[in-house]
Amino acid sequence: MTVKESPEAAAEVLQHALTGDDLPDSFHLLGREWALHRGVFPGTLTAATEVMASVLPYPQDGSFLEVGCGTGVISVTAALNGCKTVTALDINEKAVANTEANAERHGVGDRVRALHSDLYAALDPGERFDAIFWNVPWTYVEDGFPLSTDLHSAVFDPGYQGQARFIAGAQDHLTDGGRLLMGTADLGDRERLDGFAAEHGMRVELLRKVRRIEVVRVMEYHLLELHPA
Ligand SMILES: C[S@@+](CC[C@H](N)C(=O)[O-])C[C@H]1O[C@@H](n2cnc3c(N)ncnc32)[C@H](O)[C@@H]1O
Repeated sequence: MTVKESPEAAAEVLQHALTGDDLPDSFHLLGREWALHRGVFPGTLTAATEVMASVLPYPQDGSFLEVGCGTGVISVTAALNGCKTVTALDINEKAVANTEANAERHGVGDRVRALHSDLYAALDPGERFDAIFWNVPWTYVEDGFPLSTDLHSAVFDPGYQGQARFIAGAQDHLTDGGRLLMGTADLGDRERLDGFAAEHGMRVELLRKVRRIEVVRVMEYHLLELHPA
């Protein structure tokens, strides 16, 4: 079943994640502390980052390309879990700096290369990887929907053009037998995705399904004291 999330609901979540002086500059995930730069998709906004980082089949001693690295949790986890080299790309410059900071923090700065890039644009034409992965912005919106902040591109994919370009360009950057992997959710539009894959002679297989009970909103916890009136 495909569930649709309203753009308004997603935008409301973003608004909370972007504003406010008291937003944390780090978060805890997968037993580690991660730097969070303002304007970068927080790795705890949904469980997707943790789930994908945990279940991805990292190519052992191989090369891993992450498109849309965000805070770098997945790229750093790839480097810590047997990948020889990791390339992390993001269209959001702040995510590139955030990923570099987290790679340094967790001692894999020498194996994680982060680049500012729209999809594969910053790669050399001949560069190839044993696995390419994107934890995609899964919210479908019509073409022309304004991506008014950096965080909008982390959540919305107008016309699913990002996913279409991800699939279209992958073959130029995969090794023989290399794997093309995507992280999405039941909020994504699977029919559309299957259509793009078919246009490029590919089919989509569900490798893993992980269910989580989630409340998609930011909570503020209040400690109250009661006084005599
Ligand atoms: C759902 S977030 C995932 C972030 C991170 N990988 C994680 O799991 O926490 C999607 C990421 O894709 C990036 N992105 C969106 N469009 C992109 C594009 N055309 N090229 C590269 N990165 C893109 C966003 O900036 C965002 O960081």
